[in-house]
Amino acid sequence: MTKGLFISLEGPDGAGKTTVLQQLLPHLQAYGREVITTREPGGVAIAEEIRNVILNPEHTAMDDKTELLLFIAARRQHLKERILPPLEAGSILLVDRFIDSSVAYQGFGRGLSVEDINWLNQYATDGLKPDLTLYFDIDAEEGLARIARNADRDVDRLDMEKADMHRRVRQGYLTILEQEPERLVKIDASQPIEAVVADALAVIKERLFS
Ligand code: TYD
Repeated sequence: MTKGLFISLEGPDGAGKTTVLQQLLPHLQAYGREVITTREPGGVAIAEEIRNVILNPEHTAMDDKTELLLFIAARRQHLKERILPPLEAGSILLVDRFIDSSVAYQGFGRGLSVEDINWLNQYATDGLKPDLTLYFDIDAEEGLARIARNADRDVDRLDMEKADMHRRVRQGYLTILEQEPERLVKIDASQPIEAVVADALAVIKERLFS
């Protein structure tokens, strides 16, 4: 049994969840517990190496199932090294992308079996799911436009995928949201950043601290 709180942040590319995560940090620290932020591969050496293989723009020959299995392998290692220890110590964890990314991107986006992915996720995590998942919802076109405007960000192999992939990914998230309303909460990420952060905080307070 874990003693901490596990919050994952999910959403299509360009939803701004990484910025929101940074802005949530000081608010959550006010609760007096240690707050840890991490993202796969999270500086975990083994997972970093796996991630470099996945995102390398030269790897155009990568098979969809290979991609899935690599994400799953990286997830397992990151979980063991970065998620479980602080969770067992009672910290609040903010995790940028977790199991739902594989379902949305490799399942709905690439068309791999969602049933298989659910099983692989369960195998990699020993069935651990976040206490709360904030899903940052944005229209595929708006998300892509934001990425294009963000000149500082490197374009990786997955960013190069077409707009219809992004639409399927969003559909995937909306489907998971319908299936697990007790875990996922949708936040309108098309709003100004301050409003997105305020909504996220309100959901965290209501779901985990009330
Ligand atoms: P990430 O570096 O987290 O990018 P972002 O800043 O957009 O969140 O993830 C890189 C890409 O990898 C992103 O397009 C989402 C994708 N991804 C998957 O396809 N499957 C997964 O299981 C994960 C964790 C990420």
